[in-house]
Amino acid sequence: MLLSVDGIETFYGTFQALRRISLEVNGGEVVTILGANGAGKTTLLRTISGLVSPAAGSIRLSGEPLDNVAPDVIVKRGISQCPEGRMLFPEMSVQKNLETGRLRAQERTDSRRRDEAGGL
Ligand SMILES: Nc1ncnc2c1ncn2[C@@H]1O[C@H](COP(=O)(O)OP(=O)(O)OP(=O)(O)O)[C@@H](O)[C@H]1O
Ligand SMILES: [Mg+2]
Repeated sequence: MLLSVDGIETFYGTFQALRRISLEVNGGEVVTILGANGAGKTTLLRTISGLVSPAAGSIRLSGEPLDNVAPDVIVKRGISQCPEGRMLFPEMSVQKNLETGRLRAQERTDSRRRDEAGGL
């Protein structure tokens, strides 16, 4: 199994957005998450990507736990999110949009290296 989400519970403060969410994704599968506005679809994706931490449950990628793994490390392990239409540059090609995202990610990595090297 590629991705395993087991019994996830996610809160925003005291508000519980996800209750016991479980799903499995196997290699080559396309899985769709459906739900009403506010049902928790975005929260589930944010939890899988490590942007919010679940209070309970576990997430595994190829058997390896993703608990307490930083979002940028989760990206390096292979989980990425593609934004929906309004976050793209409509006047640019798909190729150019993808390249721009890659450049921004590279800039963030470079600036972190600069910070780690003492602000050079
Ligand atoms: N940052 C936040 N702080 C507090 N509550 C939030 C926050 N983000 C989302 N929520 C709440 O969590 C619940 C799930 O929201 P979420 O955005 O995950 O739903 P969604 O299924 O993606 O909705 P939509 O279809 O509108 O995109 C909603 O009740 C929402 O109001
Ligand atoms: Mg949403």
